Amino acid sequence: MKRNWKEMFEKFYDLERNPFNLTPDPSLFFFSEGHEEALSRLMYSVKQRKGMVVLTGEVGAGKTTVVRKFIDSLGSSFDVVLIFNTFLSPKQLMETILMDLDIPHKQSYSKARMIRLLYDYLIEQRRLAKTVVLIIDEAQNLSPGVLEEVRMLTNLETETEKLLQIVLVGQPELKDLLLRRDMRQLKQRVFLHYHLSFLSHNEACSYIQHRLRRSGGNPDNIFTVEAIELIARASNGVPRLMNLIADNSLITGFARQERPISVSTVEEVLTEMGYDVKLGESLWEG
Ligand SMILES: Nc1ncnc2c1ncn2[C@@H]1O[C@H](COP(=O)(O)OP(=O)(O)O)[C@@H](O)[C@H]1O
Ligand SMILES: [Mg+2]
Repeated sequence: MKRNWKEMFEKFYDLERNPFNLTPDPSLFFFSEGHEEALSRLMYSVKQRKGMVVLTGEVGAGKTTVVRKFIDSLGSSFDVVLIFNTFLSPKQLMETILMDLDIPHKQSYSKARMIRLLYDYLIEQRRLAKTVVLIIDEAQNLSPGVLEEVRMLTNLETETEKLLQIVLVGQPELKDLLLRRDMRQLKQRVFLHYHLSFLSHNEACSYIQHRLRRSGGNPDNIFTVEAIELIARASNGVPRLMNLIADNSLITGFARQERPISVSTVEEVLTEMGYDVKLGESLWEG
């Protein structure tokens, strides 16, 4: 039943798929100035084997999406370990890395032995001209013990370069964490820190149109210009919020058989979502 409904609204708006799905889908990637910059800096650091980089940004800014796109853009000469479960112990971190890289090991091995295995593996990959990348998302949740482990991993190097490329991704708290006095050793290992901002108003409007087009639709037939501008304004350029508002607007618009969707429909959707349109209040509570 739910599926039929979805098919009906996609048909009504002449779409091939839901344009505002919340999964970070690289094929829908929108190159805002910030997202492009984040991506190119990650690329540069990893390709030049600079060691450790940090990407921060508010919730919903698109960090995980950048990571997906980044992994997608790395060729076959890169071996990527992506960790999202940040509530790990230092030993579990090592186990996860070995497991993901298919390095034979036993759970009973000591951590030091595991690091030795990783080191041998990294040397071998280097010989094969392969780059190994460890990406940790939601890194603001890492315990001090695991962060210390990450610091130790940055010590794996030859005279000239870092053997393991590390990308730490997280909310702004990650930056505060690195600024702590007991973290200064780790902070000194960071080659580059990039903060991903929200989209500007113009970028936000283009983002909505881009996702509609990429989903097979013609933006002009789906939302009025004013409706798109209101979504951009109310969301403060936060991609996740834009998706939520636009998605709800499509559902309400379809229920009313409205095409293109008007600014008053979006206003009602915003009110339903608990937003006071009259006050010009933004949904974003940074
Ligand atoms: N540059 C972008 N292009 C396309 N979609 C994006 C972009 N940035 C964010 N999004 C969308 O916004 C939502 C939130 O992004 P996400 O990467 O999960 O944010 P974060 O990890 O910073 O909390 C996702 O649904 C994603 O599809
Ligand atoms: Mg994320």
